[in-house]
Amino acid sequence: MSRAQYLEALGVDVWVPRVRLPLGTAPAPAAAAPAVAVATGDADSWQAVRAEVASCRRCGLCEGRTQTVFGVGDTAARWLVIGEAPGEQEDLAGEPFVGPAGQLLDKMLLAIDLPRSTVFIANILKCRPPGNRDPRPEEVAQCLPYLERQIRLIEPTLILCVGRIAAQTLLQTDTPLGRLRGRVHAFGPLQTPVVVTYHPSYLLRTPGEKRQAWQDLKFARQTFDQLSATRPDGHRS
Ligand code: URA
Repeated sequence: MSRAQYLEALGVDVWVPRVRLPLGTAPAPAAAAPAVAVATGDADSWQAVRAEVASCRRCGLCEGRTQTVFGVGDTAARWLVIGEAPGEQEDLAGEPFVGPAGQLLDKMLLAIDLPRSTVFIANILKCRPPGNRDPRPEEVAQCLPYLERQIRLIEPTLILCVGRIAAQTLLQTDTPLGRLRGRVHAFGPLQTPVVVTYHPSYLLRTPGEKRQAWQDLKFARQTFDQLSATRPDGHRS
């Protein structure tokens, strides 16, 4: 499938005049450093965090889950995509973004030359909230340390947050998603660059916003390309 075909599948009009992207925007103030989940001095590992997630009973969501949804993809990926929480199909499959929203996410990533297998995809929560309700603060508080450990293990060049929950949680803000778009934020001790866009489920319900999402994706791609060009020190493209 050609790039144009992916964009068409996304519902994006490729002939829309290009909006000049605010690439020179100053990074937002850094989010507070995340709590350190691993005892100082102990090297963390994928094996350790995987095992802890698989047997996690830190919140009530463990009662209703079929299984935990750890995350999927290349553990050495330069891109980390973060969503909200598993839905019904993800709970059954044990993999994030496998339902209709996942199919759209795959197209969104392909539109910026990122086959799903080349990124790592994870969620704020590892277990499905009943009825797909929003995550509760106490659930996020218990689960976020796992994601923070995944971020430290991957050391991505760029984090792409899809949706309000992922963006507001990672950036520790109540600012509406619409005002977080179009700029580069920073996360955690490494000040990892973060770009946000709409959640694919929202785009499925509100296709008119796909054009905006395409602007975000182009902005993310350009930001990544700039970072790769200016930081060749071990930051692979
Ligand atoms: N929505 C999400 O945010 N994550 C998933 O894994 C699936 C749907």
